[in-house]
Amino acid sequence: MENFTYKNSTEIRFGTDRIDNEIHDAVAQFGDKVLLVYGGQSIKKSGLYDRVIDQLADLQITELSGIEPNPKINSIREGQKLAKENDIDVILAVGGGSVIDASKVIASAKFYDSDPWDLVVQANGADRMKLDQVPLVDILTLSATGTEMNFGSVISNPETHQKLGTSGPNSPAISFLDPTLTYTVSKWQTAAGSMDIMSHLIEQYFNHTTTNDASSGMIEGLMRSVIKWAPVALKEPENYDARANLMWTATMALNGIVRSGNEGGWTVHGLEHELSAYYDITHGVGLGILTPRWMDWVIATEPKTVARFAQFGRQVWNIQGKDDTEVAQAAIKTTYDWISSLGFPMTLPGVDIKDETNFEAMAEGAIKSSALDKVAYVPVHKEDAISIYRAS
Ligand code: NZQ
Ligand code: ZN
Repeated sequence: MENFTYKNSTEIRFGTDRIDNEIHDAVAQFGDKVLLVYGGQSIKKSGLYDRVIDQLADLQITELSGIEPNPKINSIREGQKLAKENDIDVILAVGGGSVIDASKVIASAKFYDSDPWDLVVQANGADRMKLDQVPLVDILTLSATGTEMNFGSVISNPETHQKLGTSGPNSPAISFLDPTLTYTVSKWQTAAGSMDIMSHLIEQYFNHTTTNDASSGMIEGLMRSVIKWAPVALKEPENYDARANLMWTATMALNGIVRSGNEGGWTVHGLEHELSAYYDITHGVGLGILTPRWMDWVIATEPKTVARFAQFGRQVWNIQGKDDTEVAQAAIKTTYDWISSLGFPMTLPGVDIKDETNFEAMAEGAIKSSALDKVAYVPVHKEDAISIYRAS
C-alpha cells in the first residue's frame, strides 16, 4: 500500500425531509448574499426551486440558471461576474454534477481577476489551490459524479474542443443528499449516472497497487451495490432503497476514500472526456460504450492483468470457474451485458459519431490531458487510443 493523506471536510446531510428544515441555516451561516446556481427546468418542474426560495426569503438571492450538462466556460464567466458584482458570501448549487462543478469554479473565480478559463487550464500563472473560495452548499439531484464530496470539476470549452478537470482547495462545505429528489431523473440519466458510478469504481479498481485489500473490498462492495440497484431504479423510479443506495454509492465512489493507498489507474475517463468535448454527449453514456472495449484491449495487451479481471469476475459478478482467463473474459462480457441492459446504445454510431474524423485529435487530447501514456493502468499511446475508439 502507498503512503497517503486523507482529508475531506464536506458535511453530508443524507435523507428525506431535511431541506425544508435545514437549508436556511446551512446557507445563512456563511452570510446573506447568496448566488443560487441551477440548470434547466428540472428543479422548477419538481417544485424544489419554490421550496428553496421559500426557505431563503430573508436572504439576498442572485440567480444563475441555465448551467448545461457538460458545463461550459461561458457559464463560469457569467457566474464570476455575478459573484463579484454582488459580493457573494455563499453559493447554493441545486442540481446534478454539472451545476455543482460549475459552482465550484465560480467559487474560486470570485477571487480571480482575469478569464476563469485560466483557472481550469492553470494558464497565465493562475493557481486555484492558492485562491480563496466562496463556501459552497449544494442540494444534489442526480446520483453520478461524486462531486458532492470531492474537490474536482470538469469544465468544457466548445471553442477549443477541450473538456478538462480542475481541482480547488475545498470540497463543498455541506451537501444535502435526499434520494427522493432523484425520483424524477429520466431513465437515460439514471442509466448514465449509474454507469458513471460504476466507471469511477472500475477506474480505481484497476490500478498499480496489488496489495490493498481494504480498497479492493470496498470497491467490490460498492460495485455490487450499483449492479443491484441501477436496474431497480430504472424499473421503479420511486423505489427509495434503490435511489438511496445509488446516491450514497456515488458519493463513496469518488470522495477519495476507495483510492487511498493506491497508485495509477484512470483511462476511460480521459478517453470519454474527448468524446464529450467534440460531440457533447452524455458523460456516462460515453463511458458505457468505451469501458468494455478498453477492457478487451487491456487483457489483450497485457496478459498480467488477467488475474485482476478474474478477481473482478469472481468477487463482483460471482462468476465461478478455476481458469483465470475464462473468468476474466466472462467478466468483461457480463459487464458489457449489464451496461447494455441499462438501455444504452452500445456503439459510437449509436450516439451519432459515425466517422473517424476526430479520432486522431481526440487520442492526442486524451493522452495530453490525462497522461494516459504514463499513469493509466496499462499505458495508452496514440495508436492504442485510436484502436479503442475504432473498436467502439
Ligand atoms: O439542467 P436540468 O434541468 O437540471 O436537467 C439535468 C440535465 O439535463 C437533469 N437532471 C438533474 N437532476 C434531475 C434532472 N432531471 C430530472 N430530475 C432531476 N432530479 O439531468 C441532466 C444531466 O445533468 P448533469 O448535471 O449534467 O449530470 P451529471 O450529474 O451526470 O453530471 C455530469 C457532469 O459531471 C462531470 C461530467 O463530465 C459531466 O460534465 N463529472 C464530474 C466529476 C467530478 N466533479 O468529480 C467526475 C465525473 O467523472 C464527471 O466527469
Ligand atoms: Zn465520471
